This record gives sequence, structure tokens and C-alpha cells, in this order.
Amino acid sequence: MDNNKRPDTMERITTKALADAFIEEQVQEIRAQVGDKKVLLALSGGVDSSVVAALLVKAIGKQLVCVHVNHGLMRKGESEQVIEVFRNQLDANLIYVDATDRFLDLLAGVSEPEKKRKIIGGEFIKVFDEEAGKLEGISFLAQGTIYPDILESDGVKAHHNVGGLPEEMEFELVEPVKLLYKDEVRVVGSALGLPDEMVNRQPFPGPGLGVRCLGAITRDRLEALREADAILREEFANCGLAGKVWQYFIAVPDFKSVGVKDDKRYEGWPAIIRAVNTVDAMTATIEEIPYAVLHKITDRITKEVPGINRVLLDLTPKPIGTIEWE
Ligand code: XMP
Repeated sequence: MDNNKRPDTMERITTKALADAFIEEQVQEIRAQVGDKKVLLALSGGVDSSVVAALLVKAIGKQLVCVHVNHGLMRKGESEQVIEVFRNQLDANLIYVDATDRFLDLLAGVSEPEKKRKIIGGEFIKVFDEEAGKLEGISFLAQGTIYPDILESDGVKAHHNVGGLPEEMEFELVEPVKLLYKDEVRVVGSALGLPDEMVNRQPFPGPGLGVRCLGAITRDRLEALREADAILREEFANCGLAGKVWQYFIAVPDFKSVGVKDDKRYEGWPAIIRAVNTVDAMTATIEEIPYAVLHKITDRITKEVPGINRVLLDLTPKPIGTIEWE
């Protein structure tokens, strides 16, 4: 039997009862596969790796070692949430690595998008590899592979995935959700008790805010981007758009315009709002955000975020614009 093929008879997991049955079955399978050995997992905080982590904690507890690498390009509060949920609530074995300085130092002065991606991806593997090297007795590597990754293994995720690990890491793989579609992974995550925010997290590129802090990243502009993005998310949550729009974020380009603040000339960067709907990210349409919401967001971002003096709205569908700006 091909282990990477979803059986035609497999029922779509849409309810808590179906999710519980799946969880029970996987817990048994994971225990049978792993025995008393240790498993390593790169935990980004995204839906897939979080659900795999929660499943493994349930199955083997402290035999799972999660490594969360904070590359300094996370959205506001996301690394903190990983620590809160996995270390504090689930009592998981979590190694937290704040590698912000390493990433930002390497990225200093680098403006070419593909080069930025390569640096972030390469450094991620290095940091993870170093952490793995410090651990003893790891036999397995868990991964949040899901069914679309298998179906499209020559496609988007392959080149997108920053978490891609070096081939020479010779671990046996544990991939408990590899036959599930994304919606099923979310149902399983909820059944495992993960917070809604985590289970319904929007897609977030592996290089994180690095591809939204356009051009050469500086710490002050990255911080402005992170704060503006947090305000956008807060206001989308307040007006009900958060559960409806597929992906929304702020991009901050590396140029300034003139403005006025406190009666003085104030040069600042623009914050660009992008909010799109799509099924598969191959094409995308623009969400129509009510003007009242846009005004509120503009008001808050320009008042609350140092360095930003204008807010712009990107109305470009994909094609012709890609979803991300880089
Ligand atoms: P584009 O910009 O190509 O994005 O229209 C399509 C989808 O892919 C996400 N994306 C990435 N995801 N690493 C990722 O894991 C990346 O480097 C990356 N670039 C784009 C993007 O957010 C959108 O959902």
C-alpha cells in the first residue's frame, strides 16, 4: 500500500467526533512507531506544525522535543503565543531560540528579495541544525506535512518552505497529518484544544515579515511594520473581517514621504494594506473593506506607529500582483 496516498474510503474530518477518532488512532500509531525514543520537531507556530506538536505531546509527552526558532520576523506576539501554549499550557518540552540578531545582522543591507529569502532559509536550517546537534538520542523527526504538500510536492510549498531541513539529517519521519487537508487539520487542532487564534491562523510566509519589510530590512522599519500589522489584525478582528478574509497584512516600503505631525515636518514610511481572498493562492481577489474601517485603521496606524505617516490600500488582484510584495 502507498503510505502517501489518501484511501478513497477515508472520510473527511468535519466534526469533533471524527477528529477525536482520528486523534485516538494517531496516538496509538505514533506510540507504536516511536516506542520510548525521542522525536524532534521544528515548531513554527503555524497551523500544521502546531497540530503535529499537540498530537505528539498527547501521544508521547516529553519524548517530543520542540524547537521554536524566532527569526525576528514573526508577527507581533506569535513567538510568545508558542511559548504560552506549548510550554505553559501543554507542558511540552520546548526549546526557544531567539535568533533575531543573527538573522537581522545577516540581512543588513540586503535588498534583493531572492537573496533575502535564501539568507532566511539558510540561517533557519543552520540554527535548527545547531540545536539538534546539542541534543542526544533523537531518533525521529516530526513534520507538519499535509496532503496538499504531497500532491504538490513539486510546487509552491517546496520552494516556499523555510522549514525545509537538510537531507543529511538522518532521522525517520513522523508525519501524522500527512493525509489530511488543511480544513481537517484545523478541526483536529480544535479537538486537541489549541486556541482558535492558532487553529485559524492565516497563511504566513516562512520568511515572515522579511518579505513585507521591502528592500533592505532595518530594525526600526521592521518594528513599524510589526506594530502596523498588529493594528490591522486587531481592527479586522473588531469588525468581523478576520474570520472572512483569507489573507491580510501590511507591507512597508523603504522610502519616505513628507508629512506633518505636531505642527512639524514629519518624514515617514507608508504602510500598505493588502487584503485578499483566494482558494489556492494561485489567483486572488481584493476584499472590499468598508471605508469606516479603513479610516479607523489609518487613524490608529498614523497615530500609534512611530515612523509611519501614510496608509495606502493595495487594490491589485492576482494576477497581476502576487499576494506578497516580494
Ligand atoms: P504569492 O506572493 O506568490 O504568494 O502570490 C502566494 C502564497 O504563498 C505565500 N508565500 C510564501 N509562503 N514562504 C512561504 O511559506 C514564502 O517564501 C512565501 N512567499 C509567498 C503567500 O503569503 C501567499 O499565501
